[in-house]
Amino acid sequence: MKEKEKVTILKGNIVYSKNPKEFTIYEHGYLVCQDGKTEGIYQTLPFKLGGTPIRDFGDCLIIPGLVDLHIHAPQYAFRGLGMDMELLDWLEANTFPEEARYEDLEYAKKAYGIFADNMRRSAVTRACIFATIHRPATMLLMDRMEKTGLDTYIGKVNMDRNCPDYLREDTRESAEATLSWLKEVKKRNYQNTRPILTPRFTPSCTDELMEELKKLQIRYDLPVQSHLSENPGEVSWVKELCPWSEFYGDAYDRFGLFGADCPTIMAHCVYSGDKELERIRENGVMIAHCPESNMNLSSGIAPVRRFLEMGIKTGLGSDVAGGSTENMFRAMAHAVQASKLRWRLADETLAPLTAEEVFYMGTKGGGEFFGKVGSFEDGYDFDAVVLDDSRLAGPGPLDIRSRLERMIYLADEREIRAKYVKGREIDLS
Ligand code: GUN
Ligand code: FE
Repeated sequence: MKEKEKVTILKGNIVYSKNPKEFTIYEHGYLVCQDGKTEGIYQTLPFKLGGTPIRDFGDCLIIPGLVDLHIHAPQYAFRGLGMDMELLDWLEANTFPEEARYEDLEYAKKAYGIFADNMRRSAVTRACIFATIHRPATMLLMDRMEKTGLDTYIGKVNMDRNCPDYLREDTRESAEATLSWLKEVKKRNYQNTRPILTPRFTPSCTDELMEELKKLQIRYDLPVQSHLSENPGEVSWVKELCPWSEFYGDAYDRFGLFGADCPTIMAHCVYSGDKELERIRENGVMIAHCPESNMNLSSGIAPVRRFLEMGIKTGLGSDVAGGSTENMFRAMAHAVQASKLRWRLADETLAPLTAEEVFYMGTKGGGEFFGKVGSFEDGYDFDAVVLDDSRLAGPGPLDIRSRLERMIYLADEREIRAKYVKGREIDLS
């Protein structure tokens, strides 16, 4: 190993996923990071690494950083509130009035400061984030997230119809503001923060706006994030708004904003039918499964087992503030719980999800959107979280798998001893 290369060695109980079926476990192993990537895992350190300092975390668990594929930063301020409505009423009553406040940069500074701090202290290392329509506040969010060291995609939201006047962009204005946002982002040379095109969802975006956004997608080679087939009222509304579409997802695909030539995340997909799922698979769209939000907004339960059986790329999203927390362990547990209710109450052909499957989705599954991310296989970006589960210990010892399963249900920031993103340690204070 060349001397100049930066090497970090962590020692502990290493757990990660190569596939959705099983955990890969190394008890009291050495996890070696070289130049921001996983170099290897060893039970006995090889001779070439002799003399490199070792950070010994004793009996702690070391897992890949968690990936939140779908979260709304401006909604963080009302998380856990106003869960008594379905999606479309909830947007009007809670979401749009709150998002309008981000025109005020002083408010945005306070709110995004809290959001960024809490994301930094969570087990999340990667996230795809919605901002609001406001360019200055979106830049502020990007600056704040850049400073956390977390690696994120952040999108200025676009919407030019079906929203209150105070939040509606004129079509041309929306395209122009997006262009100047993209130019500004380029100038800032972020290391950890990238832009993502963010048409809110079909009901908020005219065909003309979608065409403009496609031009920007091509010009800046951007990925895309949006919402899809989340709620029955929303799905039938899209049929009315886009009578020419074969299904909801087709209304994105017609404009080239559905995975075929740009990496795309679609959140929810609770009501995606056979044709839509087939197109999702063909186009390589990644689904952000947001189980807590789907419960809170009475949206339903997504057929995740079906996604996995079809070979659709699937990760997890908190969808704050449809979801109440940025804690992605909660999203994993909710995914298991929701799948069990679906199996019992709606469709016994789709077996419930396992701890292995939800952990995979919350790490390597969603991580794929960021490249070689979410695993400790050789060459993967070194995103790691060290968990001290002693607060939750029982009277007797547990094996590593059981300890991780318990973390999925019970862990929060109190368990986090250290966090690394691309080999760099994050300040958890
Ligand atoms: N669909 C369009 N906008 C939103 C949003 O802010 N949250 C959720 N959950 N769904 C949406
Ligand atoms: Fe959402």
